[in-house]
Amino acid sequence: MQRDNIPEELTREDLPLKANKKTSTCEEYLGGSKFINISFGTLSVIITAALIIQIYYGDYQVEPHGSVATDSLECSEVGTTILKKGGNAIDAAIASAFCLSVFAPHTTGLDADGQLLLYNHRTRAAAILVDFSDLPISTDLPRLVLGLAYCHKKYGSLPWKELVEPSIKFAREGFLVSRVLVQSIQLRGAEDLFGRLEPSQLVKVEKLGETLQNIADITEKQFDSFISPDNSPVEIDAYKFQFKRHSIYVPNVPSIGPMLSILLQQIEKLNFTLEDSKSTLYHYKMGEITQIVYKDFQVGYKFHEGTSSNVAVVDKNENYVSLITGLASLFGSMEMTSSGYIMNDKPKGVLCSRLPIIIVDSHHVCGKRIILGANSIALAAQIISYFLVNDENTTASIENPRFSMAANGTIGIESSHYPYFDKGTLQYLKALSSTEYLLTEPYQSVNVVEKIGDLLSSHSDSRSGGIASRFK
Ligand SMILES: *[C@@H]1O[C@H](CO)[C@@H](O)[C@H](O)[C@H]1NC(C)=O
Ligand SMILES: *[C@@H]1O[C@H](CO)[C@@H](O)[C@H](O)[C@H]1NC(C)=O
Ligand SMILES: *[C@@H]1O[C@H](CO)[C@@H](O)[C@H](O)[C@H]1NC(C)=O
Repeated sequence: MQRDNIPEELTREDLPLKANKKTSTCEEYLGGSKFINISFGTLSVIITAALIIQIYYGDYQVEPHGSVATDSLECSEVGTTILKKGGNAIDAAIASAFCLSVFAPHTTGLDADGQLLLYNHRTRAAAILVDFSDLPISTDLPRLVLGLAYCHKKYGSLPWKELVEPSIKFAREGFLVSRVLVQSIQLRGAEDLFGRLEPSQLVKVEKLGETLQNIADITEKQFDSFISPDNSPVEIDAYKFQFKRHSIYVPNVPSIGPMLSILLQQIEKLNFTLEDSKSTLYHYKMGEITQIVYKDFQVGYKFHEGTSSNVAVVDKNENYVSLITGLASLFGSMEMTSSGYIMNDKPKGVLCSRLPIIIVDSHHVCGKRIILGANSIALAAQIISYFLVNDENTTASIENPRFSMAANGTIGIESSHYPYFDKGTLQYLKALSSTEYLLTEPYQSVNVVEKIGDLLSSHSDSRSGGIASRFK
């Protein structure tokens, strides 16, 4: 599907955007030449000191810029519009999540469950996790709304109404159907829900629009009365571990987060160099170690994979938010409520393997900061390795080929996503499973925002057809 109304800047979403030179926080660190003769030790002290001062006090000097990456261009733009209005990263993530409930009813929706990770790179305090992945069914509010309302009350800045309004408009006036929504309808046989849709067709979902309008009209007081100890999201410190000189934040137990640390520790023990990462054996070893961890810890049986859609946000105040929401399967219960959304089919107590992720360089304030979300540790480990072992940029790290791991240890291959694994790699990967397992489209997407120094890059996975949005 070619859409020709996308402005040039957006079609080249991978080109890093940079804050104005004069106001840059990390300019010298990133190789300003005037300090070239000073020894590196001295240089880093000077720069770290300068930077810390700027990060704490330099707010007024830094040009506002920010980015939002989601499974849909429109929903990424809803997020950046909120940032431009002065909203923070939490506001943007909430607005984008509402938008995805319109655009991506196959993977998420008003009854979806989710987790939100919040980190501020100025205070550098431990990241916080708001977990609303196991709320009981509520008669007052759909569960995603409960989770987002909690986040808004605690950390939001713009009025609630403004965060829901853009999605009401899309629901009422229509939204363009994505290729992956059509594929999902075919795959799950969900024609009864939306009819036979074509990619790029304009579809209105008026019932959902009405429901969103009612949600927008809820007052703070009413929310307080809806949230009780029994249905309140859980807020805890995130789990933090080290990989390749970076700190990685993920949800703590009982979530799957700590399992990712086990897998990445095993990967780190393989001592891959940049050179190794280009060899055929690299993916074989990655597959092999992933298979061992899945088997030893029964990962695929303890955690249900489910669907997911992740929103990654960076705002001008160095707030980083990773929000991941999803249903237990495509289109959840497959039944449309009278309010125009589909119920989640996840039984209470079942844990999904999806996880929001925030990565920061443990040694350099201006080093890599990466915000993403994944629906399994196999997927997360491959992408994190593309970033931190292969040292790839956002586009390559997301678009590069990857395998999936079924609960029984069979390796799944995305046979129609370009670029492909080379023939040799494919043979090695196939040798790890007794049967060949080709995944069916749509493939799982991962959306990312990365900051290195002042450079802001972002990329939405072409597997979902999304495009990230940034502004300077
Ligand atoms: C990202 O990396 C890929 C592969 O390494 C390269 O082809 C591409 O030009 C890079 N993009 C940018 C914007 O640097
Ligand atoms: C990785 O490096 C460590 C320390 O140098 C070494 O002890 C270990 O055997 C190496 N592992 C592999 C798989 O080569
Ligand atoms: C393992 O699981 C995959 C995916 O569910 C399935 O296609 C494959 O047949 C299974 N293999 C075995 C040996 O059970």
